[in-house]
Amino acid sequence: MRTSNALAIAAAVAAFAVGCTSDPKMSESAATFVGSEKCGGCHVDEYKTWKDTLHAKMIRTPREALLKDAGDNWAKDGKGNAGPTKGNIDGKAAAMTDVVYVVGSRWKQRYLVKNPATGNLQFMDKQWNTVHRQWEPYGQKNDWETQCATCHATGYRLTSYDPANPATQKVAMSEHNTGCESCHGPGSAHAANLGKRPMFNPAKATKEQSSLVCGYCHVRKENSNFKTAQNHPREDQPHPVIGQSYKAGQDDWRTWYPDKMLIPGVLPGQPLSKNYPDTDLNNAFYTDEKAQKWGSHDARKHHEEYQEYIQSAHYKNNLLSCSDCHSPHALKGKAAIEPMKTCAGCHGTTYDPNKIMPGLASTAANLFVRSHTFNKNQDRPGGPTATSKAEPAHYYAK
Ligand code: HEC
Ligand code: HEC
Ligand code: HEC
Ligand code: HEC
Ligand code: HEC
Ligand code: HEC
Repeated sequence: MRTSNALAIAAAVAAFAVGCTSDPKMSESAATFVGSEKCGGCHVDEYKTWKDTLHAKMIRTPREALLKDAGDNWAKDGKGNAGPTKGNIDGKAAAMTDVVYVVGSRWKQRYLVKNPATGNLQFMDKQWNTVHRQWEPYGQKNDWETQCATCHATGYRLTSYDPANPATQKVAMSEHNTGCESCHGPGSAHAANLGKRPMFNPAKATKEQSSLVCGYCHVRKENSNFKTAQNHPREDQPHPVIGQSYKAGQDDWRTWYPDKMLIPGVLPGQPLSKNYPDTDLNNAFYTDEKAQKWGSHDARKHHEEYQEYIQSAHYKNNLLSCSDCHSPHALKGKAAIEPMKTCAGCHGTTYDPNKIMPGLASTAANLFVRSHTFNKNQDRPGGPTATSKAEPAHYYAK
């Protein structure tokens, strides 16, 4: 504690010197993204503990994070399934040494190689299932930069976009992964002024605003306002103004081009009680008789926790936000929250989280993430979930 405080003060003094040269009247809305390392100069404990979370480990180089299991089985897994051999968009042969980035580590890992046609990155044709230790087909035929990165990076923005020719669009991001400013908004003004300019702190916001920050990514949606470089509807939601990024705590993404968005359960007129075929929301939630009777629609695909959660009594009664059960990083003097242990504090033994939160949302073959509808009638049997928090073994020794 002593050392980290001393470091923080040293960094604060250094940052203050820089701060003197910048415009003191710079407003928060004009603030830009400075990157997590800059925040870490003063917020040493938050930075160190955030680094250990999956938010900081989503997309990395093969040297850093290619899973040992996947590397060892690159040609063929123990069940005889062949590994990745080509890029999905151009169909050209690609080898393990062509991989630029690996994506994911907990449930599955996917592999990015260059797409020379756009200058972006495309996926290879197989993904590694970490629990069942096998290769599975993966058919995504859109560039990473125009289909996925908004939710897997910080400070994402379109820098040019021609609706008549989406293939020429250009994007930029301030850093890979879910950095500090994904949840706190851009911090240049705050960082340059010794932390004296306000930063959005979800703990001081309403439960609704706090969960909305997580909901920008932990949600499933389809976007016809912007297209991917391959001219398909997108599954993310870039800022409506070209050149601007989503600013957590300041922007309400629910109000952005709603007539061009499908966000069932969130936008009016888009109930979860019905299905949306021919979209990414096809069979995304349970709509069977049981769900209709309960009025509670569990997710059938991963990253839909926000849409599940806003159906719960916890959310509707303003009782809890996502971060009441999940620590995004350490807070001074507080141990990291263990999500499974939170229930007992309020419910005693009434609700067993294993029964209330079964693995229902599919993320890979026979692998699921836990339900977040908090429905007391829940009786669906869950499938296998990934429970290990331990860092998996990597192919390249550190
Ligand atoms: C130069 C040092 C410095 C840097 C760099 C810095 N902060 Fe801070 N930050 C502080 C100080 C000091 C406070 C306490 C201010 C107060 O409470 O009056 C603070 C407070 C905060 C708070 C709490 C605000 C509140 O109202 O509760 C958040 C959140 C925060 N910082 C996030 C960040 C993020 C994210 C970054 C990087 C973009 C960052 N900080 C960069 C010094 C810094
Ligand atoms: C996934 C979202 C998320 C990310 C990423 C994130 N934070 Fe936070 N941060 C939160 C939430 C939520 C809170 C409020 C915690 C609570 O509810 O008790 C918070 C609180 C804080 C606070 C206030 C602490 C206090 O004692 O009140 C600081 C400072 C802070 N974060 C800094 C950072 C820094 C620095 C980083 C990057 C290294 C970071 N945060 C990354 C969500 C995030
Ligand atoms: C910028 C997008 C983004 C935002 C904002 C975001 N997340 Fe995430 N979150 C992700 C991604 C992507 C992953 C998967 C990371 C991986 O597996 O490598 C993830 C994983 C998680 C996990 C599972 C991994 C673990 O550590 O157990 C939890 C829990 C989680 N997020 C909670 C939150 C909460 C709570 C908030 C809001 C305070 C939040 N997230 C905000 C993108 C985001
Ligand atoms: C709307 C936001 C969003 C979009 C768009 C998105 N993701 Fe994710 N992704 C997430 C979140 C959030 C998680 C964490 C799992 C969860 O919340 O259920 C995740 C998890 C993952 C994982 C599993 C990580 C692990 O550790 O196993 C991979 C791999 C992944 N995403 C790849 C992609 C790819 C590839 C695309 C584009 C085709 C994409 N994502 C588009 C939000 C998004
Ligand atoms: C901060 C206190 C708190 C925590 C922590 C908490 N709950 Fe709740 N929960 C409540 C309150 C209050 C209600 C509404 C009154 C009631 O039904 O008991 C509620 C309602 C529920 C309901 C009933 C919803 C309905 O349809 O009536 C379920 C199921 C539930 N919680 C499960 C859980 C599980 C599982 C956990 C842990 C992962 C958890 N809760 C954590 C306070 C909490
Ligand atoms: C009442 C407590 C509670 C709330 C509120 C809550 N979660 Fe969770 N969450 C849990 C528990 C318990 C787990 C299971 C953790 C485990 O397996 O160790 C979990 C797991 C997760 C996972 C990983 C899924 C898996 O199967 O491992 C993600 C991602 C996640 N939560 C995101 C969110 C987001 C986003 C929100 C808000 C929209 C949220 N959670 C709200 C209790 C909660």
